[in-house]
This record gives sequence, C-alpha cells and structure tokens, in this order.
Amino acid sequence: MGKTIVVTGGAGFIGSNFVYYMLDKHPDYKIVCVDCLTYAGNLSTLKTALENPNFRFEKLNICDRAGVEKLFKEVKPDIVVNFAAESHVDRSIKTPGIFVDTNIKGTQTLMDLCRELEIPRFHQVSTDEVYGDLPLDRPDLFFTESTPIHASSPYSASKAGADLLVLAYHRTYQLPVTISRCSNNYGPYHFPEKLIPLMIINALHDQPLPVYGDGLNVRDWLYVEDHCKAIDLIIHDDRLGEVYNVGGHNEMANLDIVKLILKKLGKSEDLITFVADRKGHDRRYAIDPTKIKQQLGWFPETKFADGIEKTIDWYLSHEAWWQEIISGDYQNYYAKMYGGK
Ligand code: NAD
Ligand code: TYD
Repeated sequence: MGKTIVVTGGAGFIGSNFVYYMLDKHPDYKIVCVDCLTYAGNLSTLKTALENPNFRFEKLNICDRAGVEKLFKEVKPDIVVNFAAESHVDRSIKTPGIFVDTNIKGTQTLMDLCRELEIPRFHQVSTDEVYGDLPLDRPDLFFTESTPIHASSPYSASKAGADLLVLAYHRTYQLPVTISRCSNNYGPYHFPEKLIPLMIINALHDQPLPVYGDGLNVRDWLYVEDHCKAIDLIIHDDRLGEVYNVGGHNEMANLDIVKLILKKLGKSEDLITFVADRKGHDRRYAIDPTKIKQQLGWFPETKFADGIEKTIDWYLSHEAWWQEIISGDYQNYYAKMYGGK
C-alpha cells in the first residue's frame, strides 16, 4: 500500500529534488511538503509537483509545534524525512542563532511529535561537514561513520548537534531513526549562493568569480539525484539507529571546478578573482561510502563529467527560475557578503 511521506524543507534544493524523485518513483505514495519558505525556499520550484494530486504543500515552520502536530495528526505520516535547515556556511558565520533554532530545535520538535504520535520512521538528512575536515596532504584519509564528530562552522556544529539528538532519541526512547551524512550536492534548483550555481551565473554575466583563499579546498561532489536514491533506499530498509555516509569518491578542488565551468561556458579564466578566505574554512571533505554500498547496494550513478554538463544546461534553460531569485533580496546578500572582499 502507498505510504505517506512528510518531506520538510521540500521547497529547497535537495528536498525539492527528493519530492520529484519520490513522486516519480512511487506513484502510489502521498508526499506532503512542510516548508516555511525562507529565502532559500521557492514555491516556483514546486510548480510541477503542485499539479500532482499526490502532492500537498504546507507553509509551516518545523519549530511550530502546534502547527506541525495538527498536520501530522491529519496526514498520519509513515515516514518523516527532515531536509529543513539553514544550510549555508557563510550565513552561519554571520548569523549563527537561526541555525541553532531551525537545525537543532526544529529537529527536536519534529522528533518529539514523531515520538508522541508514534510515527514509524524519522530520517534526518545530515552532512559530512559534521566530521570537520581532512588535511590535503593525506589523500588516504576518508570520513567513515565512526570518524569522530568535529564540526568547524556554526552550520556544521548545528547539524552535529541535531545528529547527536537524533541518536540520543533512538537510544533513550527507541525512536525509529536513521541518519544520512552526504557530501556536497550539485544539480537543478541549487540556490545561487552556493559555489557551483554562483559561478555559473556570474560567468554568464561576465562578472568576477570569487574564489575563497587559494582555491585549493576540496569537496566530494555528488549529483543530487544520487543523494535522493540513497535516502529512498535507507528509508525503505528496516535497520534502525543507523548512520550512512553518502558520497561519490569525486574529490575536486574549488579552483578546478571554477575553471571547468568557465571552459564549458566559453568564458575567460580572467574572471577568476581570489578573495579573502572563509573564516575557519574546511580544507577537504572525502566520504568513504563502503557501508551504504555493502548494506543497501547504493552507488553513485552519475559521473561528474555528465552531472556538471546536465547542471550547466539546466541553468541555461531555466534562467527565469534563477533570475527571479537574484533580482530580489539576493542582491543585498551578495553586496554584504562579497562587497568587502
Ligand atoms: P536549502 O537551503 O536549499 O533548503 C532548505 C529548505 O528548508 C528551504 O526550502 C527552506 O525554506 C526550508 N526551511 C528552512 N528553515 C525552515 C524551518 N524552520 N521550517 C521549515 N522549513 C525551513 O538546503 P539544501 O541544500 O537543500 O539542504 C537540505 C538538507 O540537506 C539540509 O539539512 C542540509 O544540511 C543537508 N545537506 C546539504 C548538502 C548540500 O550540498 N546542499 C549536503 C549534505 C547535506
Ligand atoms: P559551498 O557551496 O558554500 O558549500 P560548503 O561550504 O558547504 O562546502 O562552498 C563550496 C566550496 O566553495 C567551499 O570550499 C567554499 C568555496 N566557495 C568559494 O570559493 N567562493 C564562493 O563564492 C562560495 C560560495 C564558495
């Protein structure tokens, strides 16, 4: 029988990709999106989903206990998948408080309700950033699920705090939980403040491409659809209290990504502008995905060369989507964030 899945943060980048993935993969499921539409949430992203009778959108903050309780009582979810978060490291350096509110207290609110209403499954979408970083001169080192939590930024610390709470709720109350810790995603609907879309859009406008520090920081990039597939596998497996690292063995230095984007768009590398480094900037992230491969048979299907091509094409053919974003409040954000650099 079809399940009902509540997807929090479904108007953001990964959550919306997950909504579309699930509507397509499980046509007998009901998908209920809970999102309070912060600057990062965009209803136009869900335009096609809103035409699907199996999809419902609720504008709701995950910290709003009464509102979420009413909704959960009404829709009786089989699974809650929590994507809702403040997600940008640079913003967390400027305004950490909201990260604690949404990422920790919001997660706790959802779990308290899952516990009270005996919802059969809570899945927390976490990040490899909870492990801190790895040195550039030790390419043999990777994050495994038993790597100690060692967060660097207010963002990653808030995600780490949530992860610890999720595991504590499992141990203390036997809440049926799972956690996925994924590396950097890229793909459609990625908000333009993040590296890849920001560089594509600036390059298209012949504007400087701001590379932090020496540009040698390494991220392990995964196409967003592969992340969605991993979560789908995890939530349909019976093992509880498990943490899964999700990553693509696709490490790239920021500078190499920026050069690749410029090449694909036929733009000059003269657009690259080195700017002041991010405070506390993590040097390298690299995931060891052995556990999810062995237990659930997951592997990253999209090669970076194909994924980046698809992503650039998507931004070229969805200009209206990102123009609407960059013409609004984003202008003020950009001026504040990059003005002094
Ligand atoms: P995003 O910033 O694009 O989207 C976040 C969404 O959550 C937005 O739609 C926003 O409106 C919503 N939201 C924020 N606060 C809320 C609240 N209090 N109540 C309800 N909705 C709220 O983020 P993303 O990149 O899609 O990330 C989704 C999740 O995946 C996050 O938990 C993030 O930590 C995690 N993650 C992201 C990446 C990545 O590369 N982007 C990698 C690993 C893990
Ligand atoms: P980002 O997309 O913010 O993801 P995260 O910090 O969560 O990994 O940044 C990815 C990398 O790109 C990170 O090393 C910071 C760097 N970066 C820049 O060099 N310039 C930029 O304008 C941005 C947004 C990021």
